[in-house]
Amino acid sequence: MANVTVIGAQWGDEGKGKIIDWLSNRAQMVVRFQGGNNAGHTIVANGKTYKLSLLPSGVIQGKRSIIGNGVVVDPWSLLDEIARLDAAGLKITPEILVLAENAVLVLPLHRELDAMREDAAPQKIGTTKRGIGPAYEDKVGRRALRAIDLMDLAALPAKIERLLAHHNILRRGFGVADADGAALVKSLTEIAPKLAPFIGSSWRELHAAKLAGKRVLFEGAQAVLLDIDHGTYPFVTSSNTVAGQAAAGAGVSPRAIGTVLGIVKSYTTRVGEGPFPTELKGATGEKLGERGKEFGTVTGRKRRCGWFDSVLVRQTVITGGIDGIALTKLDVLDGFPTIRICTAYQLDGKTLDYLPADAGAQARVTPVYEEMEGWSESTQGARSWAQLPANAIKYVRRIEELTGTQVSLLSTSPDRDDTIMVSDPFVDR
Ligand code: IMP
Repeated sequence: MANVTVIGAQWGDEGKGKIIDWLSNRAQMVVRFQGGNNAGHTIVANGKTYKLSLLPSGVIQGKRSIIGNGVVVDPWSLLDEIARLDAAGLKITPEILVLAENAVLVLPLHRELDAMREDAAPQKIGTTKRGIGPAYEDKVGRRALRAIDLMDLAALPAKIERLLAHHNILRRGFGVADADGAALVKSLTEIAPKLAPFIGSSWRELHAAKLAGKRVLFEGAQAVLLDIDHGTYPFVTSSNTVAGQAAAGAGVSPRAIGTVLGIVKSYTTRVGEGPFPTELKGATGEKLGERGKEFGTVTGRKRRCGWFDSVLVRQTVITGGIDGIALTKLDVLDGFPTIRICTAYQLDGKTLDYLPADAGAQARVTPVYEEMEGWSESTQGARSWAQLPANAIKYVRRIEELTGTQVSLLSTSPDRDDTIMVSDPFVDR
């Protein structure tokens, strides 16, 4: 099966939306396999800008789109998103969208708990406050509500009672009122008929797609440095964001995930708290932020910006299972007289070629830089290598050398068509 899995290779916001949209044109099915509405994918297509959060990007092109079992789904947010697209002229029907019956639901009490914890924490994580972490905790704690529970409303009150037995203990600890079980039953009962037509089976959909020889695109959210195991713990999201999660989070063989494309921004950004070795706090960081329009899609927060860190990407290529890179936002570096790349770290007199696991050590490493000459010409909108200045090509080649992987796609503007394809991830390996 010629499938492709796309994951972020830094701290998110690498421009996955555009690449996924571009690739979904070439796929017959698009599948989300982790995360929730903490993700924000911006897609510019047909002269319109779409902001997606829970819906797989395939919906823009009317491709069969699956919200896999590994996703945590805020049902109200999903309905809002469907309504917003409807208002923009895109009708999301059950022929297009399938919501996995075994996907966990994010409830208002999860959002509240997320916010209460963040507000009370001496060391904040900087979450999106969408309730993602608490929902995954309930999943692992075996007390969560799942999409399928909306299909058996008679059994809902008992399941909610079990869930609230846990949550109300926490809420009392925070000094807030118990969650209102009856109100939750009522509001879920109201929305159940709207969601019911979409609820189906992710693994069966994917098995049928395999038998029919369809090309599937697995769409990751967040990124490897935010992975619960391989990221900068504890400043991470609560799911696995590595390519391997596509199998578990959708219900397919690990061999079905196909070629893994890691999306890499030509510099580095991060939203929220946590270590960031190449962060630039002065004018250069501001300039990158302004030129790259680095504001969060979901929370509107200003992203922290810094130089490209090849130590991190080399590591996420390995831990994420990445076969090739899609390099984005090269044009943001146009006009910088010199550009720096981090090639190693210094820590306590030692040189490291990896990010240590300890959060304290991660905060203390200092980057070792290599400086390259920049380019004054514009790369924006380039659609072939011939249109790129020699120094821009040198920069791309150096990234390949340092990260030990090839650039398969190069994106030179938010527009779908401003993309240089070096090798076709659906075909070449
Ligand atoms: P949570 O996923 O809301 O629990 O947030 C945990 C961390 O992941 C925070 O640092 C967030 O800023 C970050 N995060 C979550 N989703 C995204 C995303 O889609 N892009 C970038 N950062 C994200």
